[in-house]
Amino acid sequence: MKAYTTDVALSDLDADLVAVGLFEGDGLSEPLGSTAGASDASGDFKSKVIVYPGKPERVVIIGLGPKDGFTLEKARVAGAVAQKALKEVKGEALAWMLPDTGDLDPGGVAACLVEAAIFSAFDFDRYKSGSDGKEAPPSLKAVEINTGKDVAAMVKVGEAVGNAGNRARYLQSLPANVATPEYLAGRAREIAEAHEKVTVEVMDRAAIIKAGMGGLEAVSKGGEHVEPRLITLRYTGKGGGETLGLVGKSVTFDTGGISIKPSAGMHEMKMDMSGGAAVLEGLNAIAELEIPLDIIAVLPATENMPSGTALKPGDIITQLNGKTVEVTNTDAEGRLILADALVHCAREGADRLVDLATLTGAVLIGLGSTYAALISNDDDLAAAVEKAGELSGELVWRLPLHDEYKDLTKGEITDLVNASAQRKAGTIYAGSFLEEFTEGKPWAHLDIAGTAWDTGREYWGKGPTGFGVHLLVALAYDLSS
Ligand code: BES
Ligand code: MN
Ligand code: ZN
Repeated sequence: MKAYTTDVALSDLDADLVAVGLFEGDGLSEPLGSTAGASDASGDFKSKVIVYPGKPERVVIIGLGPKDGFTLEKARVAGAVAQKALKEVKGEALAWMLPDTGDLDPGGVAACLVEAAIFSAFDFDRYKSGSDGKEAPPSLKAVEINTGKDVAAMVKVGEAVGNAGNRARYLQSLPANVATPEYLAGRAREIAEAHEKVTVEVMDRAAIIKAGMGGLEAVSKGGEHVEPRLITLRYTGKGGGETLGLVGKSVTFDTGGISIKPSAGMHEMKMDMSGGAAVLEGLNAIAELEIPLDIIAVLPATENMPSGTALKPGDIITQLNGKTVEVTNTDAEGRLILADALVHCAREGADRLVDLATLTGAVLIGLGSTYAALISNDDDLAAAVEKAGELSGELVWRLPLHDEYKDLTKGEITDLVNASAQRKAGTIYAGSFLEEFTEGKPWAHLDIAGTAWDTGREYWGKGPTGFGVHLLVALAYDLSS
């Protein structure tokens, strides 16, 4: 999917469908206003009316709501409505007349229109018979932003974010018998291959055990036939200065292990690698946009399976930093593999750490699918992540750390237990546990279990969201400036 800018008259646009926004109380300019059907159009947010002025052939008039209440998020929703109209008319190329954005940055609005069109065109169809195991070519081929303003650079950002988000969603959608840890390693190699400034290193089971990553070793023991991988990507966007560390939970299937999950809905646990997908494709977009920042990204990738060789409740393990953990619940596996990955990331040179993980069901109860939970030991980093969340629409809500939560994680016979029978503050418990593995670095944890799948947002709909890709790009821009 390509995005580009033009600056021509409405009548000269030749896209399959031209989108024109209409704010409440505004009128349409001529000759559009007197086109048959145009009087049905309104400024009501999300409303749409298709008319046929001749030149251009088709125009969809999209209600944008009150002008003074327009936001980047509303631009995304309008962008999704336009893409759906394009699909209805079976078009492949969409053009937007960039609306008057008032106080908002026109480039930001343009990027949102592009990104949302790409997101809403996402389709996962390779497993429909007749598709030959391949994705059909995307129905959306081009988005054009028509304006006299200089938005070209931001349109490229929208394009990169939209495409990277969809690649993350594709990884999320792939079933666990395809998207194995080695498959993710293959995708990481592809990304390194595509960018001169990206390198990759992949550790196999033997190397993981040898390195002392007891958490990743333990969780992967049940998957006798599916090897774990510890994937490390380095992006040298600046070459000197701060290194940002990114860690993404990459459990390619979470059965719960011996503490097995109920069968209803278990198939959805193929998405337990969503943090890893966001980190992989977020890094890919950051490299594509050549954002001047150094990054080291770590994906601990494994299945969590029950078997005769699996980790058992009560087993005691030693994590990479020497801390011991009694595994009271094998379904609290994410924190065990993230613990090693965080330590590894810090030791490999990260100055600050951000992890993304579908870590707890509790975050769904607390925040639903609107906000991801943010837990951090550092106010500056937390503020930067909050700002990136606001800008990207990938919202985060900070939850506290406190010594009383920390006490819940302490073990009787070990340093830590990975889950408490009390089930208090499940999301914070997991965050408190992770804090033990941050090597004294500023760190922010994002629990995306509620936002990675089925948010129902206009531009994501049901299924995978790629949540985190845009946030990471926004964060990288912020930290690089
Ligand atoms: N991968 C799950 C969390 C999850 C739940 C992700 C729902 C996506 C949707 C995680 O590994 C898990 O099983 N967490 C347990 C922790 C508990 C055993 C302390 C949970 O939340 O129930
Ligand atoms: Mn689990
Ligand atoms: Zn899990």
